[in-house]
Amino acid sequence: PYHKEIEALLTQMTIEEKVGQTAQFTLDVIGEGENVYSSHFPFKLDEVMLNDVLVNRKTGSILNTATNTPLTLDEWQAVVSRIQEIAIEATGIPVIYGIDAIHGTTYTQKATFLPQQIGQAATFNRDLVRKGAENTAYETRASNLPWNFSPVLDLGRNAAWPRIWETFGEDVYLISELGKEVIKGYQGADRDVVDEHHVAACLKHYMGYGTPVNGKDRTPANIPLHELVEKHYEPFVRAVEAGALTVMVNSGIVNGESVHASYNLLTKMLKEDLQFDGVVVTDWQDINNLYERDRIAKSDKEAIKIAFNAGIDMAMVPYDVDYTDYFIELINEGEISMSRLDDAVRRILLLKYRLGLFEKPVFDYAGYEKFASIDHQDEARRAAEESITLLKNVENLLPLSPKLRILVTGPNAHSMRTLQGGWTLSWQGEKVEQFIDNHNTFLTSIKKHANDVVYAPGVSYKMDAWWKEETTNIAEAVNAARNVDVIVACIGENTYTEKPGDLNNLSLSQNQQDLVKALAQTGKPIILVLNEGRPRTISDIEPLAGAIVQTYLPGTFGGEVTADILFGVTNPSGKLPYTYPKHPNSLMNYDYKPAENRTEMQGAYNYGALQDLQYGFGHGLSYTTFEYSNLKVDKPEFTPSDTLTFSVDVTNTGKRTGKESVLLFASDLYASITPDNRRLRGFDKIELSPNETKTVQIKVKASDLAFVNLAGEWVLEEGDFNVQVGSEVVMINATQSGRWTCPFRRF
Ligand code: IFM
Repeated sequence: PYHKEIEALLTQMTIEEKVGQTAQFTLDVIGEGENVYSSHFPFKLDEVMLNDVLVNRKTGSILNTATNTPLTLDEWQAVVSRIQEIAIEATGIPVIYGIDAIHGTTYTQKATFLPQQIGQAATFNRDLVRKGAENTAYETRASNLPWNFSPVLDLGRNAAWPRIWETFGEDVYLISELGKEVIKGYQGADRDVVDEHHVAACLKHYMGYGTPVNGKDRTPANIPLHELVEKHYEPFVRAVEAGALTVMVNSGIVNGESVHASYNLLTKMLKEDLQFDGVVVTDWQDINNLYERDRIAKSDKEAIKIAFNAGIDMAMVPYDVDYTDYFIELINEGEISMSRLDDAVRRILLLKYRLGLFEKPVFDYAGYEKFASIDHQDEARRAAEESITLLKNVENLLPLSPKLRILVTGPNAHSMRTLQGGWTLSWQGEKVEQFIDNHNTFLTSIKKHANDVVYAPGVSYKMDAWWKEETTNIAEAVNAARNVDVIVACIGENTYTEKPGDLNNLSLSQNQQDLVKALAQTGKPIILVLNEGRPRTISDIEPLAGAIVQTYLPGTFGGEVTADILFGVTNPSGKLPYTYPKHPNSLMNYDYKPAENRTEMQGAYNYGALQDLQYGFGHGLSYTTFEYSNLKVDKPEFTPSDTLTFSVDVTNTGKRTGKESVLLFASDLYASITPDNRRLRGFDKIELSPNETKTVQIKVKASDLAFVNLAGEWVLEEGDFNVQVGSEVVMINATQSGRWTCPFRRF
């Protein structure tokens, strides 16, 4: 599509104009004042810098990471209109504006905020995820921002990694399935004509980002080829197949190679093997990082050469004024070919055409009546509600009676910031306290259910300090606890985003553990409400709690939906999208290899400490009970081209209506390389009234039972698999083997 228009433009463009299209600057650069993070209020464009960036450098894209204050729709329209006016006058080509609207329209006042991706994953509900994405697209476009740096398709497989909450968890199938829903929700039905209610998605961070060896952000990951292809590549393969228009590259290093410099990963595996025709954008200053951090380029100029020759199309925040000059020199010296530059520019122009920017660079926000509407809020509330995961409930401590005297304590009890997480009104989320009312915290929401509520935080985050710093008044909380019937301790983490969230110790902070231990001394029952971006280990305090509720980062409505669950107005239905570790030094994922979990006695030696988890992947309780029976499969013997239909009866055997995520796992019993213990291969979510039974059907393609061998090929080997759904197990048998060399053509 748009071939004629693009070729006509290309023939007219100067080298400067072409290079300009590949650059993406931040709003900071064109805002008045030294730095818009701290200086100007309200935000104002700087006409001199605008001229420099758009007229002199002919920059093709702007992104916003933070303004001093979130803008209104009116202000966004004015900012984008001015940018487009100048850009179009200078080059005839509109700018494309990119934003991290990862759980709602990040920098726009009054937007609707969903749970962060990790909570969305816990819903195991495709419809909720798609509808949330649709609403985010609508509100993002209403803000005149047509390109969303979302979804994150990295696997959250190292619990310490500070970006776990931005992922859909640790499982490749869940990530792939929900990723596809987000693409549909963001981009709408036609990727070539993305209308005024939709935006371009950006898959990130391609690939292998979520498994850093030491758990810290942007540090090296070592991933064997077969695992890279089977687990890390797969969600991107599925999302490209679903039509995703752009991809952002992993800032880190995989198997010794800086991903931004990898021809194999970017050009071969993404652009050629998957026939990806969209834009590949760097992450923040990552071309510069090839020189200054990774030291594989000896200069900034060489870094540009390496990155563009590897397959980068757009440079996010090219570090300094010489980017254009260096790039032009590289073209003139033949170090980057003109055809490579043209290819990058073609992709960028195609994206702009697909988004209709040439036709209509700015939309009138007044036409977006559903912005932050009750409908959008209800959808975000539903997603939050279905995300909350009941991890423990001894002797039905929950739900609580409203007549009880309750102590609400903990640093997360009365904070909208910790409910929202990062990328909310600013990068680190620190603007939330200023711009979002506290009417919806755990505390205020609990008070709406019960009359006798006291509040003593015991531990508080220092809001003006870095995220890990805390102050304590544990004695006050303990005194308050003596006069109540039950304690609700809202604990977890303060807000962080990316590298600033790195940790040296995965355990919950010592202060918060001390608080819970001191409260336990009173003998009053304790409910832990966890509000955290990743599973901070709680093994010392877990036995002290009668009930534990995981809320993740549930967004604007997190407080009220959690209170509804605590008092039994709502029945919880979330399930963990990751493995909750028990010990900081014993991290593993649910699809571990047999060698990782040898619990049997080996002669005189006991190997029994290995599989010692706090809670497993998929764990989540309800106020009712479900029984599984009658698991059947239509083709117990199958060949590689078959699709198998499994059916299972699920009965609500308790006294309340409840929702249940039905998860189907498959285990390959023997294979030529050691198989995963089990792998999620299907899921569905249903609602059942007491005594009701529903038959759930889940289809699984035989090729979904394949694995990637050491040569990087998808293979299905003859032999037995067992398939588990709830308590039910059925055996199936592959009677023929199969092999697929290109992942994209696997089906
Ligand atoms: O989209 C983000 C990315 O996830 C991390 N670095 C900055 C980018 C743009 O804000």
